[in-house]
Amino acid sequence: MATIKTYLYPVWIRIWHVINAVSFLLLIFTGIALHYATMGTGLIKFEMAVNLHNVCALVLTFNYGLFVIGNIISGNGRFYRSWREDMGANLWVQLKFYIGGIFKKESHPFAINKERKFNPLQKISYVAVMYICMPLIIISGFGLLFPETVVISVLKISGLALTAFLHQIMGFVLSIFLLIHLYTCTLGDKPGTLFKSMVNGYHEEHE
Ligand code: HEM
Repeated sequence: MATIKTYLYPVWIRIWHVINAVSFLLLIFTGIALHYATMGTGLIKFEMAVNLHNVCALVLTFNYGLFVIGNIISGNGRFYRSWREDMGANLWVQLKFYIGGIFKKESHPFAINKERKFNPLQKISYVAVMYICMPLIIISGFGLLFPETVVISVLKISGLALTAFLHQIMGFVLSIFLLIHLYTCTLGDKPGTLFKSMVNGYHEEHE
């Protein structure tokens, strides 16, 4: 069986991704410590958790800006934009593969190549995460860092409480995404194949 190697992850994406992943994991850890601070989890000192959370948030935000700009100027953004008319049907095909076909050793329904870097489920989840959830968690986080910028109330509900709620919901959604992301990243030819591609830049697939 011949191995097809396609260069899909340029250096800048790999650097962005590692900074994103590390800052994200630290944000989840410190975020949980802050959320349960009154219960005294003993995971990390409160002051330390606040400072680390703020620093990681600034790193993540700056890095996110680089991702958006990089996607515009490098052309990587086209993988997030090109929606086909049959997207709904394709999503169903991919889902059926994940819940059934993969256990019967069927081959992946969508070949990954220079034209199609992501399968339909990857694409929809990456677009939602990178262009909806990340902006929302960043904006609400800055609202909490600078509370004077937040509206006082919306329909008699505290604007700050709503901002905190949005921030927590997004933190929860993104944490769930990360768990699913880590699992789907083990579904290449071998469990480590996709992780390897984020290290050397080459997507590997057997013919
Ligand atoms: C320990 C943490 C993580 C690991 C090990 C990991 C692993 C990977 C791997 C192996 C890929 C390439 C395979 C693929 O295309 O799906 C990938 C791509 C990607 N990951 Fe992650 N990831 C992590 C965290 C995250 C986080 C926290 C986010 C977003 C909040 C994220 C967003 C993405 C995106 C958007 C891509 C596609 C990038 C592109 O090529 O344009 N990842 N990840």
